[in-house]
Amino acid sequence: MTAILSRILAAHRDQPGALLPVLHEVQEAFGFIPPETVPAIAGALNLSRAEVHGVISYYHYFRQRPAGRHVVRVCCAEACQAVGGEALAEHAKARLAGSELTLEPVYCLGLCACGPAVQVDETQLHAAMTPAKFDALVARLESER
Ligand code: FES
Repeated sequence: MTAILSRILAAHRDQPGALLPVLHEVQEAFGFIPPETVPAIAGALNLSRAEVHGVISYYHYFRQRPAGRHVVRVCCAEACQAVGGEALAEHAKARLAGSELTLEPVYCLGLCACGPAVQVDETQLHAAMTPAKFDALVARLESER
């Protein structure tokens, strides 16, 4: 981990506003932001650990623990909210509590005309999602080996 982190930090050390690009690259490399990387990131960018933690927790995109087998993103942006996205997000939260799947909010998947929209990993998009369709999708993902 140290060599990868050092390479990322060296590439951005003198760049203004380097924190977000660094966090993106750390998450790309490790799948999440390992807590033990925070002191090194803060030190290299001359920031406090609290500042780094603040940015990590502000952006939903950054994961503080490894993702589950699949990442399920429910759109929480306005157009989807207007057609049942909020209820779907609540349903998803209850359905995935304790699941091996990771639930994350996302803010627009480009399917605004046929929401609520859901994305699985980086590859599958699902439009006009309902709680029943969501349960069927989750059951399929959970049964995959
Ligand atoms: S608002 Fe949900 S896909 Fe655009």
